[in-house]
Amino acid sequence: MAKTHVTMKVNGAEVEGLVEPRTLLVHFIRDNLSLTGTHIGCDTSHCGACTVDLDGKSVKSCTVFAVQANGADIRTIEGMAAPDGTLHALQEGFREMHGLQCGFCTPGMILRAHRLLQENPSPSEEEIRMGISGNFCRCTGYQNIVKAIQYAAAKINGVEFREAAE
Ligand code: FES
Ligand code: FES
Repeated sequence: MAKTHVTMKVNGAEVEGLVEPRTLLVHFIRDNLSLTGTHIGCDTSHCGACTVDLDGKSVKSCTVFAVQANGADIRTIEGMAAPDGTLHALQEGFREMHGLQCGFCTPGMILRAHRLLQENPSPSEEEIRMGISGNFCRCTGYQNIVKAIQYAAAKINGVEFREAAE
């Protein structure tokens, strides 16, 4: 099948590749770029494990063809920590609040939460739950994921994180 040349910016670096028209963005990211932190958890566009940031929006990268992302600016989980390895506030929050168990959903959760906090820096618990409603976790029961995002929001806003009484 004829291949198309695509270029895009991924985690700040210009990348390129040859893709078939049917190649999904998630496969381009994982197979061509070897960025395997973006996961594939379903074949029905439901789970959100493949979520990345694309031109300032959360997208499920299994629902986008690589050719559609030509010229886009993309961020994946590999681009969340600082160049010196310092964890992003969300990564720290998931670690501190035990927001993961198996970790399979975590990259997608973090990328989705990242965009959520860009759009709404101080979300309520309900807004967080609504914001991550397209991302499934089979392990945690979500409670600690919500706390992890609250922890990150507090850190980004420079305020002390206080866990709500249960
Ligand atoms: S792999 Fe499940 S939504 Fe993309
Ligand atoms: S931590 Fe296992 S699926 Fe979320």
